[in-house]
Amino acid sequence: MLIAKKIIDLQNFLKNKRAHHSLGFVPTMGDLHEGHLSLVKRSKKENIFTAVSIFVNPKQFDCKEDFKKYKRNESKDIEKLRKENVDLVFLPSAQEIYPKGFQTSVEVGGLTKNLCGTFRPGHFKGVAAIVLKLFNLVQPDKAYFGLKDVQQVKVVEQMVKDLNLPIHVIPCPIVREQNGLALSSRNSRLSSEEYFRATKIFFSLRVCADLLKSRRNLSLKFVREYFRNHLELQGRDKVEYFEAVDPETLVFLKKLKPPILFAAAVWIGKTRLIDNVLVLKPHHVYGG
Ligand code: PAF
Repeated sequence: MLIAKKIIDLQNFLKNKRAHHSLGFVPTMGDLHEGHLSLVKRSKKENIFTAVSIFVNPKQFDCKEDFKKYKRNESKDIEKLRKENVDLVFLPSAQEIYPKGFQTSVEVGGLTKNLCGTFRPGHFKGVAAIVLKLFNLVQPDKAYFGLKDVQQVKVVEQMVKDLNLPIHVIPCPIVREQNGLALSSRNSRLSSEEYFRATKIFFSLRVCADLLKSRRNLSLKFVREYFRNHLELQGRDKVEYFEAVDPETLVFLKKLKPPILFAAAVWIGKTRLIDNVLVLKPHHVYGG
């Protein structure tokens, strides 16, 4: 496994390996868990070469504190990727990615206006810029993203479509703990009591989806109140948003008629977690 810290090393590796071979790419911010590794495994299965990037991208953090708190676990990450037989890890410094004088931003329009876009100003601009830069550097055939960050997946897909990038974006299912909690690097910030409270996010999303089965003319107001009441039970946690959106366009739905994507962001204590469930038919619920 090659570890490239400089763009030039990455490019030399690619020059030698690329011709006629498919290259799968998994961009990450490190602190790797089974969710990331599921993307790596999928890429390994579908491509001759797999490259993973680890870069905690300062431009996508709307809050400096969150950027500082973001766990760095370089040596453990490298070990995990070695075990998966990844071919290349791109591990650039901030200076390598954003050299002095860097001025470009990338903005995807409508898709970034609601859900996380409303509460994290500038977040998706930061994501689009780094993903586009990484795509240009790595030039993968396929790129793998987890559906927990469903809005991010849609934004990347739209960017790829609008700019005619020759890359296949592959959305991959959410990986969950047995209790349903979606895997996230942020879960390690939870105390054991908070961890227990966090498991209610998926549970409550599922109940909302189940309510569609048992009640006719269910209103969004009712479902939203149900979700909020469950999560904010003891006043310690806060629902930032809970929405029912069109799974393709992420536009808010006026009526609860499947297909529906229920998407939520919840503060469990001081940790912000997101999750979603997809309802294709009233009795057909996916965990992502
Ligand atoms: O999902 C993430 O980890 C990040 O947003 C990404 C795609 C690696 C861009 O920094």
